[in-house]
Amino acid sequence: MLKFNRKLILSMSTAAALALLTAGCMGASTSITHATTEANGKATIDGGSTYPVVNDKTGPYYVDPQVAADAPKINNGRVPTANEIAAWNTDIMPDGTGLPEGSGTADEGSDIYDAKCVACHGDFGSGGGGYPSLSKGNAYDLQKTLTNNRWKDPEADGPVREFGSYWPKATTLFWYIKDAMPHPFTKSLSDDQVYALVAYILNVNEMKIDGIDVDDDYVLNREKLLKIKMPNRNGFEPNIDGPQALDDVRAFYADAANFGAQKIKKGATPCMKNCQAPTAIVVHIKGAGISNFLPPMSDARNLPAEKKVAVNPASVYKNTCEMCHGNGVGPALGNKAEWAPYLAHGMKKVYANAIHGTDGGMPAKGGSSLSDADFKTVVDYLINGK
Ligand code: HEC
Ligand code: HEC
Repeated sequence: MLKFNRKLILSMSTAAALALLTAGCMGASTSITHATTEANGKATIDGGSTYPVVNDKTGPYYVDPQVAADAPKINNGRVPTANEIAAWNTDIMPDGTGLPEGSGTADEGSDIYDAKCVACHGDFGSGGGGYPSLSKGNAYDLQKTLTNNRWKDPEADGPVREFGSYWPKATTLFWYIKDAMPHPFTKSLSDDQVYALVAYILNVNEMKIDGIDVDDDYVLNREKLLKIKMPNRNGFEPNIDGPQALDDVRAFYADAANFGAQKIKKGATPCMKNCQAPTAIVVHIKGAGISNFLPPMSDARNLPAEKKVAVNPASVYKNTCEMCHGNGVGPALGNKAEWAPYLAHGMKKVYANAIHGTDGGMPAKGGSSLSDADFKTVVDYLINGK
């Protein structure tokens, strides 16, 4: 169960993830009601849930009490070795925890990028083919697009969320590349190579460190990487940074107005539905119903009729029939004498024979894929010579 929780945490919202984490800390509880306080006495984060374990079950699901009791033992019940833990414990934190020594220049990074990354991430990190772009230009300018209000200013650029414009911490880039790239040959880069790649990505994002441009020859190292001030470092809500993070998140989610569409009265308890009068103002347009809409709205989902393109019998003859009929195999174009014995059976029979093919060597429809009607126009042309 704990393993399962951990997996979930990776993909859940901050609120729900934190709630699950705190559920883990609570351990077994005797109450099955929705918990509103955590073990530390603080309110649970609004919108999240805790899942107390009662009689080895949480809700309808059984919990493996052995696993719950002894979390570090995984799968086969063996305590992982220090090396095994170290292999997974690769976090690189903004404070420098886990960030190795090393160095590299943007120039070196450019070569590695062209060899190992460009196929997916495009020239200069421009992205493409469904792979994320790593730069769209000047990070500082693009960060300003994040707060553009296109409701007020429809001409404004939409938000550009790139490493440079959006990510709050630069160390995450190092971590991401070192751990996960190049796909699928992860963990194949040396620390120096990763420094070089990070320098290159800073370069194409036109970023500065300590006021200095990260140009081609800039030597990036651990010390300098930790100095980067990302333009969007204060752009996140709630603030998940620092030791106050949990309390900040708790306070943020305690006020529904911070994230809910519907405002509730100060102090009122949030609820799911029909429990409070809506405060949103609904504006009805009086006497302005749409009555004359052109073209009429339709729920028909038929494909549009295929456009008919008239066949050109002369060119079909040239491309499909002439190789035989123009070379003495089968009656020749417009040759009355040669066609006479066939026409004696009547046109109905001639069409049918030609459509289905004959043992005498006429392939069905002459090997064409024309409709019957179109094919008949070619037959007429072949017989009459015009
Ligand atoms: C075979 C394709 C492929 C190659 C090669 C590749 N990547 Fe990626 N990269 C991806 C995909 C796919 C993602 C998105 C993964 C996701 O979002 O889950 C990604 C994500 C990233 C991200 C995060 C971008 C973001 O904004 O979320 C960075 C940074 C990155 N790659 C850097 C690199 C670097 C540096 C290299 C070369 C050493 C590289 N990648 C090589 C496919 C590739
Ligand atoms: C691979 C050679 C070949 C091609 C290609 C071919 N024909 Fe023929 N066609 C013949 C031969 C051989 C006959 C005489 C068959 C027989 O006597 O049974 C024939 C007979 C016909 C007949 C008379 C059928 C009957 O028995 O009344 C028509 C009509 C005809 N072809 C039309 C066409 C048209 C139209 C095309 C091109 C779209 C075409 N053919 C392409 C070989 C070909």
